[in-house]
Amino acid sequence: MKPIIELSDLHKVYRSDGADVHAVRGVSLSINAGEFVAVMGASGSGKSTLMNIIGCLDRPTGGTYNLDGIDVARLSKDELADIRNRKVGFVFQGFHLLARTTALENVELPLLYSKPEISARQQRERAMEVLKQVGLQDREDHRPNQLSGGQQQRVAIARALVNRPTLILADEPTGNLDSRTSVEIMGLFQQLNDHGITIVMVTHEADIAAYTKRNVVMFDGTVLSDRPVEKRLHADVELARLIAFQKAELSPSLAVTP
Ligand SMILES: Nc1ncnc2c1ncn2[C@@H]1O[C@H](COP(=O)(O)OP(=O)(O)OP(=O)(O)O)[C@@H](O)[C@H]1O
Ligand SMILES: [Mg+2]
Repeated sequence: MKPIIELSDLHKVYRSDGADVHAVRGVSLSINAGEFVAVMGASGSGKSTLMNIIGCLDRPTGGTYNLDGIDVARLSKDELADIRNRKVGFVFQGFHLLARTTALENVELPLLYSKPEISARQQRERAMEVLKQVGLQDREDHRPNQLSGGQQQRVAIARALVNRPTLILADEPTGNLDSRTSVEIMGLFQQLNDHGITIVMVTHEADIAAYTKRNVVMFDGTVLSDRPVEKRLHADVELARLIAFQKAELSPSLAVTP
């Protein structure tokens, strides 16, 4: 199978006016269609730098990057932006939704730039379709401050899906969420991955990484380890367990002991 992402001896040096920062130092990595990868590692190890390059938000200073067969390192800024809009959906820790804008309008936003152009009606239909996919069809008119954190992240995931990307990139998507909501979001990612969407996400938490299929650990700009997840967690199972536990904790007198 041809990889979607192929990085070979990738380097990124940030040149600021004082010292250079060598944030990525010779990373080679190959990710196939349908994979679900967690990128882990200490703060400053180069995770976001790597994700920005993979997402065509930034270019490497050395090495090669092929995205879906395209040699990205050689593209101009405009070409890079075009590839990014067509192939990549982004999800961030802080959701990055427009505040005074409804869920539906937030999701429609990437379609405004889609080529070939699609009609307003088609935009609305496509946005409704992905809102349904993330379980928020009844919240289309809500603004971000009328939604819970988990629901806001679902809107952001719907927005990432609306252009039908080859790849979803998520930088600490559960970083602002409580543990139960985090598992719900991982469940949504698992569902999307089951439907064939390739996902690469950054996380600091080993128990979140256990919901993915492959864990890549960065250290000081290099890949320290790269392993398949052996005991993969399934969000629906863990969620049921967590809910039962929370119920028992909140109402000990009502807890039924068999
Ligand atoms: N725009 C930039 N200019 C200069 N140096 C940068 C820039 N962005 C990141 N760096 C440096 O590159 C290194 C890697 O940073 P990066 O943000 O990729 O780490 P990270 O693994 O995502 O960390 P965290 O877990 O804290 O998000 C750090 O030393 C950081 O200070
Ligand atoms: Mg980071």
